[in-house]
Amino acid sequence: MRFAKLVLTVLLVLIVAVQFVPRGTLPGNPPATATIGGPPEVVAILRQSCFDCHSNETRWPFYSYVAPMSWLVVADVAGGRSRLNFSEWEDLRVGFRKRFARKVVERVEAGEMPLWQYRAVHWGARLSPQQLTTLRGWRDELNPPTE
Ligand code: HEC
Repeated sequence: MRFAKLVLTVLLVLIVAVQFVPRGTLPGNPPATATIGGPPEVVAILRQSCFDCHSNETRWPFYSYVAPMSWLVVADVAGGRSRLNFSEWEDLRVGFRKRFARKVVERVEAGEMPLWQYRAVHWGARLSPQQLTTLRGWRDELNPPTE
């Protein structure tokens, strides 16, 4: 019993102590200067399922302020934004937009996006087959077949 108490106390102290480890400049939302435009139904899907990691409009949940979950969330958002940021989309050159549109569909088709740990807590982020079809149409519109 005394041992269990000791373990619990140590755990508690650790949990409190870990809150003081700095987690960088995130969470935070820099201004969204060039948010993706285009068909509203496409933007709605991206907003619902991707914007939390791929935009400057992240909806930070309470646990993103509590270590150690905060480190994981911050790392995912930093990683997502650094590769593809829909808040900077309109500043991208056309070639990049085309390529990213293809990658978006590829990653969703492969079941890789949204990330599984995000899907596990955000049920609404799962894409329906119909939503995937909408994204495919958008990709094809941006990537017309060349003769
Ligand atoms: C929980 C955070 C998170 C969510 C939500 C999320 N992503 Fe990602 N995404 C990442 C991270 C982190 C990476 C970089 C690691 C990797 O490539 O797997 C990434 C990479 C990507 C890439 C590769 C970009 C490149 O060129 O390297 C694409 C495309 C992508 N995501 C699309 C999406 C789409 C589309 C959605 C929504 C349906 C989405 N992601 C939702 C975190 C996320």
